[in-house]
Amino acid sequence: MAQEVRGVVAPGKDEPVRIETIVVPDPGPGEAVVKIQACGVCHTDLHYKQGGISDDFPFLLGHEAAGVVESVGTGVTDVAPGDFVVLNWRAVCGKCRACTRGRPWYCFDTHNAEQKMTLASTGQELSPALGIGAFAEKTLVAAGQCTKVDPAVSAEVAGLLGCGVMAGIGAAINTGNVGRGDTVAVIGCGGVGDAAIAGSHLAGAAKVIAVDIDDRKLETARSMGATHTVNSRETDPVEAIRELTGGFGADVVIEAVGRPETYRQAFYARDLAGTVVLVGVPTPEMKLELPLLDVFGRGGSLKSSWYGDCLPSRDFPMLVDLHVQGRLDLGKFVTETVGLDQVEHAFDRMHAGDVLRSVVVL
Ligand code: APR
Ligand code: ZN
Ligand code: ZN
Repeated sequence: MAQEVRGVVAPGKDEPVRIETIVVPDPGPGEAVVKIQACGVCHTDLHYKQGGISDDFPFLLGHEAAGVVESVGTGVTDVAPGDFVVLNWRAVCGKCRACTRGRPWYCFDTHNAEQKMTLASTGQELSPALGIGAFAEKTLVAAGQCTKVDPAVSAEVAGLLGCGVMAGIGAAINTGNVGRGDTVAVIGCGGVGDAAIAGSHLAGAAKVIAVDIDDRKLETARSMGATHTVNSRETDPVEAIRELTGGFGADVVIEAVGRPETYRQAFYARDLAGTVVLVGVPTPEMKLELPLLDVFGRGGSLKSSWYGDCLPSRDFPMLVDLHVQGRLDLGKFVTETVGLDQVEHAFDRMHAGDVLRSVVVL
């Protein structure tokens, strides 16, 4: 039986969000209904609300979520009712060229739930943000979007692995392959950059240099494991990173802003043969000009990191285990917990740079 629950809907471009009654269908083949316990408020939700991602309004927002599987459709074997799960954006197919070559984050055949959730009042179909739509008491997803993790972790912490925190940690440990003794610089210390710092610390980096234009962010970066900080409003960050690395540049530079000037800084702040990892997402009109001889002569590699190049079934349980064991404190990313009716307020606080993450708890 389809059921009615409360959820946060973005009705149209730049309109304030509303709490609506939404209809969640029973899970079809390969699908699951998840009772949401917590869901982080991410920039991407705000972009959806502003119409920056698609015009497919109304959106059911929320995509950094954890909860308990309530029911599953036919053919679902990996998760069962009662399982505590973290949700991911898309279920990968496991069969395409990207999947079989061990790069499932580039899967050509990802999918979300096929059935649609609807607005109870009008019957209108809802577009779930990033295929999840978890600012709701319950949501419908593809079963492959659910990854079982140790229920010893709180839901508000576990949910963060579904997006920004995974993107940052994965940029360091998966894409950048940061290893013991490496020098790492992270440019931009918001939630994603801070997670890259925590990931680099976890991986055993010898130095983790945090770069930001805001001293408050640099202070938080230190609590995440940064060993050095550079305010790039006051100091040339490329020079500072070179100085801090014996004149060489960092083995791995992670860019977590998404602007031409910070892309340039990342490019020049790496050691010869070092790695630049791009996590910050630029806008379509942004361009950067570089002398080709510098591209050729500096060697190394430039990589972009998609969703932290994560494999949810491998990475979510691992990071939860490390958190539960006290070796990685994911709780630091949760600035505040709020109710479903405070999402609009959480957007304002995020916009003002006041929070790493507000997390909606249900
Ligand atoms: N140099 C250094 N730091 C900067 C600069 C700059 N020129 N401009 C902004 N910053 C800092 C901000 O002060 C802030 O601390 O970058 C940080 C950005 O953080 P958030 O706005 O919280 O963004 P976050 O969620 O961390 O995402 C960062 O990664 O995944 C992508 O789409 C995401 O492009 C975004 C980026
Ligand atoms: Zn695939
Ligand atoms: Zn997100």
